[in-house]
Amino acid sequence: MALATHQTQKMTCIKTLVSQSSHSNATLPSNYIHPINPDDSVANSELEHLIPTIDFSVLTSTDPAQRSKAIHDLSKACQDWGFFLVINHGVSESLMKDVMDSCYNFFNLTDEEKKLYEGTDVLDPIRCGTSFNTSKEKIFFWRDFLKVLVHPDFHFPDKPKGFSELVLEYVKRIREVAGELLRAISISLGLEASYMHNILNLESSLQVFVANLYPPCPQPELALGMPPHSDHGLLNILVENGVGGLQIQHNRKWVNVKAPPNSFLVNTCDHLEIVSNGRYKSVVHRAVVNNATTRISLAIANGPSLDTMVSPAPALTNDENNPPAYTPIKYKEYLQLQQGNKLDQKSILDRIRLQKE
Ligand code: OGA
Ligand code: NI
Repeated sequence: MALATHQTQKMTCIKTLVSQSSHSNATLPSNYIHPINPDDSVANSELEHLIPTIDFSVLTSTDPAQRSKAIHDLSKACQDWGFFLVINHGVSESLMKDVMDSCYNFFNLTDEEKKLYEGTDVLDPIRCGTSFNTSKEKIFFWRDFLKVLVHPDFHFPDKPKGFSELVLEYVKRIREVAGELLRAISISLGLEASYMHNILNLESSLQVFVANLYPPCPQPELALGMPPHSDHGLLNILVENGVGGLQIQHNRKWVNVKAPPNSFLVNTCDHLEIVSNGRYKSVVHRAVVNNATTRISLAIANGPSLDTMVSPAPALTNDENNPPAYTPIKYKEYLQLQQGNKLDQKSILDRIRLQKE
């Protein structure tokens, strides 16, 4: 028995779809079934344990030798994986837990309440919806979301009570961590520590708070929470409620990310790839779903300021072996392209790539 899809004008969110089904043997509606990709294979679990971990307290320590070792490790993580876990980041467990709890409560608001936050344009400061971009998709993703622009101007839904205040504090702490990571990354590229802060105007950086809800799915092997994609911006800092479901692509295989409690899952994004002229490639990742437990992830995107023209750092393109590999593009224009289309691998970055790989 298929779950009923109520397709009125707007798509039904997954949460409602699931709650309308009283059948324990429900099957997946056909417009959520993704074709199986024969090239997809999941790496064995040994690789999971090789995912790099960066100890933030060492990276920011005053001991130059320790710090320089941590910067070296970070550089390797960016180059070899485009992904790393961050531990000892100093953001309090209770703040992280409170933000996560408020997210549950947000998704538990009624459909009418959430409708107020739906938004219409891809750059609306508050948007709430399902899948990624239902106006462009034929097959949907098993995911509901809330996306809010929280910096340089802070916007937020006024429900549930207290959510906004918690997120205001949380995203400020995340900006501090992202800022330190970007200083260390700049150094690792042979640039001034403040290179990215200055050139990308990080004082006014765009920061987007994204909450993802992945309810239990009746046939998880046929569905996807999010398709293979890379993210816009510089660094995406994600936390999740311990259920697991993020996979990153590494040496053509999907690697399951199992993060220790309270760690940050950080992936390098398209604009870091552009600035580093391809030295640090944005990592392709996806979210898979399960049939037992609701998963929530909070992904905080940290990017340049919206009106920055982003181009490869001149210091990294100054010899004939390293010509500029990407056409400069305004971050705002890139964001509109990425959010306004289907989410598909690195399709937007590929448009501005000068040397085809
Ligand atoms: C994202 C994303 C993955 C996840 O929000 O961009 O890739 O595990 N999320 O929720
Ligand atoms: Ni992503």
